[in-house]
Amino acid sequence: MIYLYGASGHAKVILDILEAQGKDVGGLIDDNPDVKELCGYPVSHGFQGEESVIISIGNNAIRKKIAAQLQTHFATAVHPSAIVSPRAEVGEGTVVMQGAIIQSGANIGKHCIINTGASVDHECQVDDFVHISPHATLCGNVTVGEGTWIGAGTTVIQGIHIGKGCVVGAGSVVSHDIPDGYLAVGNRCKLIKKISQK
Ligand SMILES: CC(C)(COP(=O)(O)OP(=O)(O)OC[C@H]1O[C@@H](n2cnc3c(N)ncnc32)[C@H](O)[C@@H]1OP(=O)(O)O)[C@@H](O)C(=O)NCCC(=O)NCCS
Repeated sequence: MIYLYGASGHAKVILDILEAQGKDVGGLIDDNPDVKELCGYPVSHGFQGEESVIISIGNNAIRKKIAAQLQTHFATAVHPSAIVSPRAEVGEGTVVMQGAIIQSGANIGKHCIINTGASVDHECQVDDFVHISPHATLCGNVTVGEGTWIGAGTTVIQGIHIGKGCVVGAGSVVSHDIPDGYLAVGNRCKLIKKISQK
């Protein structure tokens, strides 16, 4: 029985995925006592030792904080329409959404989001707590550091290294490496400022 931590819009998509996989969902957990139900599932308040959890919160830093607090097994969710190479690795707590493609030799860390229609090509290294937004494309041999958010529709050219804790704006084309902790946007993608993700 799987429980979701975070009763959000993001959780609604994960519920669809788990149902499509035929997995049993026990309900959700949320810190807001006013939220009592989501998509027909009960929402409880406070972790009570639920045995298998996915953290259904889109913010990378919050997902990391909660993962450190919960002593439990973390499940993964992979929609049946996603294509995941048998030669790819997908870490615990990670969600692979509808139509995403993860190619041979790619390594996806823990508690990542590979969002709708995103494409992660051969031998990419995606570290823990990364979010690859809808329809973003990582060409082959790209590396993405822990906690980085790649915006929707972004294309990252092959072999590029993106540091940890970065935000890459939607629709960017990344053709140069991005150091740790930068906001970068645009086609051609430019560093905008140093950030600390909250
Ligand atoms: C890059 C981003 C994080 C910036 O957010 P922000 O710090 O709040 O910045 P603002 O919205 O205040 O915009 C600041 C300026 O940058 C521009 N800008 C914002 N995002 C941009 C983008 N992706 N590409 C190019 N320019 C962008 C704005 O138009 C604005 O320009 P202006 O000052 O000339 O008016 C955000 O716009 C973005 O792209 N987020 C990703 C969204 C996404 O992929 N969501 C998927 C969820 S599943």
